[in-house]
Amino acid sequence: MESRPELVGIVVGQTKPHYFHFLAKRAISMGEYVTVDSPAGRILGLTEDSTTRSDLLDKMSDFTTASEARKVAIKNTRDKSYNASVKVVGLLDQLRGGKVVLPSLPPEPGSEVFEARGEEISEIFDRKERQWAPIGNLLRNSGVRVAVNMDKVASRHLAILSVTGSGKSNLLALIVKQVASLQGTMVVFDYHGEYSELDIRGVVHAEGKINPRFVSADQLADLCDMRENAEVQRTVLGKALTEEVRASVNFWDSLISNVRNIGANEKQYTRVAPRVEDIIQIAVKRMRAVVDPEIGDVLDQIKASKVNILNMLEFTERQANAAITYYLEEILDDRKRAMRSRGEEAKIRFRTPIICAIEEAHAFIPADQNSDTAYIASKVAREGRKFGMSLIVVSQRPRRVSQDVLSQMGSFAIMKLTNPEDQTHVTEASEAISEDLLQNLPSLNTGEAVLLGEWVNIPAVVKLDLVVEKKTGSDISATTLWADQQAMNQVARESTKGFMVE
Ligand SMILES: Nc1ncnc2c1ncn2[C@@H]1O[C@H](COP(=O)(O)OP(=O)(O)OP(=O)(O)O)[C@@H](O)[C@H]1O
Ligand SMILES: [Mg+2]
Repeated sequence: MESRPELVGIVVGQTKPHYFHFLAKRAISMGEYVTVDSPAGRILGLTEDSTTRSDLLDKMSDFTTASEARKVAIKNTRDKSYNASVKVVGLLDQLRGGKVVLPSLPPEPGSEVFEARGEEISEIFDRKERQWAPIGNLLRNSGVRVAVNMDKVASRHLAILSVTGSGKSNLLALIVKQVASLQGTMVVFDYHGEYSELDIRGVVHAEGKINPRFVSADQLADLCDMRENAEVQRTVLGKALTEEVRASVNFWDSLISNVRNIGANEKQYTRVAPRVEDIIQIAVKRMRAVVDPEIGDVLDQIKASKVNILNMLEFTERQANAAITYYLEEILDDRKRAMRSRGEEAKIRFRTPIICAIEEAHAFIPADQNSDTAYIASKVAREGRKFGMSLIVVSQRPRRVSQDVLSQMGSFAIMKLTNPEDQTHVTEASEAISEDLLQNLPSLNTGEAVLLGEWVNIPAVVKLDLVVEKKTGSDISATTLWADQQAMNQVARESTKGFMVE
């Protein structure tokens, strides 16, 4: 039998079909769901903001008056007022049937506001169809599981944004787990080598290798970590990277020999050619593991129907930029071919949709400068939906992520966000997040997120599951490690002493 809903407040002030305020019996938390009967039917609302206020203690200017007022305020039950602002998310019955229908009429002032009970709302969030994947529980109704629509993740793009250390990578690992269990195809550009220990069925690990034979001259310059403004060096490298070099048996030797020839035969490059040769030699030595002319087609490293973690720990930022750009370009081309050929062409690698996740998006898709990755990412963000390719961008500095890309994101997971510039940048990217909700983002704890947009039917304030399989990336306890090391040193000293006495 369904329990009786608890009355929590009364609707007051001016109401709108999508928004109302109520005065509450108790303090209300952001993220609580409430129901109200309206002329259009029973409404479900999400508390976006709340305040607690005392009339007597409102304008105190000194301690003595405040402490006297406090005594009176405690005795006066009318003194405190709890005010909550609620966004109407839809009509309850329709939501339970999987449809979002907003009421055309606002709730009447004076209407009673009830707590939404778990059993009333669980079918809204805990959807069971194949495309819905559970990733956490409602923050304020902890008995209610929350699932997200993976079809939307794979087509409409997702941004995961918050201050550092609040659970973004854990959420990405959760998505990885879900895609792996659905046998979907996904690529994670793992710049920090954070997912290298993720031991989950359906997840495969590879080095984010690049074949220098197939990249553009500028990309090769980036891979060799040549400075952006070293124009003459880049020109020499571009001239040396001929079709013959690309096809030669010994790629690096041929490239270097071409650089030498240019130095010897073209006077304006005589001084710079030896420098270019040095840069190539250093790159060959340092980058042997990741820039490899013998690996064939780089897409061979990505397996369809698996989650591919591409380790990029060895890359500098510039090299990673070149590598991510190259992978994204190749994957987009492949998906375009796949959609055109209707599966007949043998060269197609990814016959089903693919999700690409970019961590540290502020570094690779920056707001204020043109990067190759930003260019291709914005192309994927604009066109990907049609070709079954989607992006997940993860960043702890949303204000530095290109608005071009952010504004194309269909879904958002926003966790603790304290910087006002970050907050404004996010509201500019998505209409789904309101000013009230934004103001409350600093109060979220680790692992708590507001899920908005296409991948949820209605906004959900959630405590995300912890992925126990993800071990790296957790906070390091320096004091524990120091103490352990000291204990080990002590043991070593004692065993040496014993040895010396003998
Ligand atoms: N849902 C969760 N429940 C409990 N603990 C969590 C949750 N999510 C993350 N954590 C913990 O918080 C810490 C940081 O998580 P995570 O690495 O995912 O943060 P992040 O936002 O990616 O950080 P960064 O910005 O530095 O990359 C980890 O130690 C992790 O164990
Ligand atoms: Mg992280």
